Amino acid sequence: MKDDILEKYRTAGTLAARILKEGAQQIRVGSSYLELVESIEARVTDEGAALAFPLNLSLNEDAAHDTASWGDERILQKGDVAKLDLGVHIDGYIADTATTVDLGNNSLLLDASHEALEAAIRTVKPGATAGDLGAVVQKEIEGRGYRPISNLTGHGLAQYVLHQSPTIPNIAINGGVVLEEGMVFAIEPFATTGSGHVREKAKMEIYSQISEKPVRIPAGRTILEKIQGRKSLPFSRRWLGERKLDLALPTLIRSGTLHGYPVLSDIAGSLVSQHEHTVIVTGDGCIVTTR
Ligand code: CO
Repeated sequence: MKDDILEKYRTAGTLAARILKEGAQQIRVGSSYLELVESIEARVTDEGAALAFPLNLSLNEDAAHDTASWGDERILQKGDVAKLDLGVHIDGYIADTATTVDLGNNSLLLDASHEALEAAIRTVKPGATAGDLGAVVQKEIEGRGYRPISNLTGHGLAQYVLHQSPTIPNIAINGGVVLEEGMVFAIEPFATTGSGHVREKAKMEIYSQISEKPVRIPAGRTILEKIQGRKSLPFSRRWLGERKLDLALPTLIRSGTLHGYPVLSDIAGSLVSQHEHTVIVTGDGCIVTTR
């Protein structure tokens, strides 16, 4: 990897780590969900960096892809398990990192995903496989009496690309991609008291552009103008700034212009924790950019 690219990954990572930590400290019983999300997102742009995706704040059985919507009136409650997943990029070089804040009595659940992440990081080196990482994650989480979420995975990163090979499973699989020096990816174990499998909810706040083909409806064209420059990186409905544009989103999904990311949830009443870091594989291990 060229030095200037490594520097951008590192700078994005250091900034993401700091903002995630400060953001986590803001989360309290009684906090406004919308204010939390908007203030943490604003810190990224205030620092001259950009968001790789809308800040995800997913509560309790919701594992991923929730963020604030228009006029979101939710207030954080006693007992909530809040996952904060932040993506920062500099010139497209992405740092993806997540942590969980416990407003109840769930420290063992948080330990499970945290220790799984640390064990997976210790396993990263050239020649190890993605399956080796999944096995370590599964063992750490199940050893603490929880389930790993089997259909959520870590993912490779590249310039302006949020999801590519290698896929890093959260359970043991045979083989998987053989890790090589210079690979960049996020490892993100999820531990749950539920089924270990997420399903899509109807709620959808986050979208990304997947095709450049021309769009006929005016509201659709306005949306594409507003997200110009994001390339394929996700954006939120809230970022569009005009509530009436919401109506065009389903049309753009049907025409294959946008992809939608529904909220992903384990069974009702379950609790999910998540921890995530971005790593770059070195000759004998890895650099964690998001510490
Ligand atoms: Co990620």
